[in-house]
Amino acid sequence: MKIVITLMGILFFTVAPFNSFANDIEKAMEPMIHNQKLYSKHDERTSLGLSPVMKSHLLSNMRSHLEAVQSIIGLLSKGSFDKASRIAHTKLGLTEEMKNMCNSFKNKKFGILGLEFHRSGDDLGNVLQTKDLSKSLSALQKTMDYCVRCHNMFR
Ligand code: HEC
Repeated sequence: MKIVITLMGILFFTVAPFNSFANDIEKAMEPMIHNQKLYSKHDERTSLGLSPVMKSHLLSNMRSHLEAVQSIIGLLSKGSFDKASRIAHTKLGLTEEMKNMCNSFKNKKFGILGLEFHRSGDDLGNVLQTKDLSKSLSALQKTMDYCVRCHNMFR
């Protein structure tokens, strides 16, 4: 009997801290989960309802678009128009991969906006070839208008 009580005591003191640890985590997560739900409720943009794999693929492309814009601005500041043009065509332009991706979305409006955006990336690449800084910046702004417009509409 004494042994049983001792064993139960040991069990209690070893398991109890883990239990309270799990409870602490759950408590700490509560506001985050709550915020996420609240956020979605107040975010009135159209959700694309993408699968986690598609979403991860889309976001990875997005980060690459951002990097392309950053590179183009840096190259413009150095007058490297040819390099900037190449990046515009290959990273922002309507490549076969981007065409397929844009055409694969269920939301057709989103797909069309994506195609227009990538065409503007090719336009930017062409304008950069003129080596005219003012025209190039204006073309870059047109491309970035699509970033802003789409982000305002979709999530
Ligand atoms: C046709 C629509 C569309 C266009 C055009 C577009 N995006 Fe996005 N972008 C999205 C969507 C949808 C998301 C996901 C947003 C969300 O879930 O809140 C996103 C997310 C992002 C993210 C977040 C990435 C991450 O890892 O979380 C970045 C950065 C981004 N876009 C950059 C850009 C830049 C820069 C441009 C323009 C050069 C651009 N996007 C053009 C639709 C677009």
